[in-house]
Amino acid sequence: MPDILVTRSSMPELNEYVKEIEPLFESRWITNAGAKHEELTEKLKSYLGVEALSLTVNGHMALELSLSLFNMKKHGEIITTPYTFVSTSHAIVRSGFKPVFADIREEDCTLDPDRIEERITDDTVAIMPVHVYGNMCDVTAIEEIAAKHGLKVIYDAAHAFGVKLEINGQWRGSGSFGDLSCFSFHATKVFNTIEGGAVCCKTEKEAERIRELRDFGIVDEENVSDISPNAKMNEFAAAMGLCNLRHVNDEIEKRRKVNDTYREILKDVKGIRLLPERADQRNNYAYFPIFVNREEYGLSRDGLFQLLREHGFGARKYFYPLVTELFCYRDQYDGKETPVALKAADSVLTIPMYADLSPEDAARIAHVIVKGK
Ligand SMILES: Cc1ncc(COP(=O)(O)O)c(C=O)c1O
Repeated sequence: MPDILVTRSSMPELNEYVKEIEPLFESRWITNAGAKHEELTEKLKSYLGVEALSLTVNGHMALELSLSLFNMKKHGEIITTPYTFVSTSHAIVRSGFKPVFADIREEDCTLDPDRIEERITDDTVAIMPVHVYGNMCDVTAIEEIAAKHGLKVIYDAAHAFGVKLEINGQWRGSGSFGDLSCFSFHATKVFNTIEGGAVCCKTEKEAERIRELRDFGIVDEENVSDISPNAKMNEFAAAMGLCNLRHVNDEIEKRRKVNDTYREILKDVKGIRLLPERADQRNNYAYFPIFVNREEYGLSRDGLFQLLREHGFGARKYFYPLVTELFCYRDQYDGKETPVALKAADSVLTIPMYADLSPEDAARIAHVIVKGK
């Protein structure tokens, strides 16, 4: 195991968490929309700048529940990216839809709006783009295409907690775009509830419907509207969220320092490509991806992965393999149909990024990359 892992969970001081969970030992109300859950819901609405949201047990179930909200035609097609974590396409398939993969843009790894329309058929019902590494998709172009063709847009915003985008001079939270946006609050994310997630909605009515759907479809004691799973967030997870939310801005600031250290040292390394920073986006520095060009750098991506390991530093091939190259998809799909995504998957390495990583350690990691073989 490397000395420095690629990620490390943000956690409050033990005492802070103990204080937060103490009332639960009195109330004995430890799940089913208890006090902590309700408080976190309100605080997140305000932090994320969204109209309404419903908390879930994890980010994956947020995606699955969001796909149940609009009564979209069953077996319909949903256009998405293969350059993502398997959860995105799994949610589509498990909800009874067919994923149709479109290529990404090299400059930010998000779904390329120019590749969406050619994938639209009479069966298309929605687009599910992903804000990869916290890079916001081209929301304006995507939502224009969706409006033109009468499609829903459900963002997988698992990586984009706290990111803001400037649109026409106004800063908007990442959860406020599309018809719905889904977050993951997994332990490795910028903001975590250990395991958790949320569906951000446009109205309280929609959020209320997600609340039913995440609770077996129970409307009230005598009425069950849908055959739906259990996907509720418990009170201990919500309490962790309340603690972590107090510190999340400081955590993002610490991540920014790591990001700046990496960028300064790696900016001119031949054969190592960094994704550009954008003036219209306030970043959360969720990940630090680099793309290795073997010919120019003199070492393959896998070679660099190994080299970092030998120095005690973890790294992750994230996202590799491409979803369409995985055992459970490759019979039906071909990674070569999305060449930009395939190239990114074959050359990417995310290097350690977490709030407690010291800029000194970040510099040591970056210098190993500069030196190469
Ligand atoms: C892009 C993306 N989508 C969905 C998920 C699923 O979230 P979770 O692990 O909270 O279920 C994750 C994270 O794991 C992710 O990175």
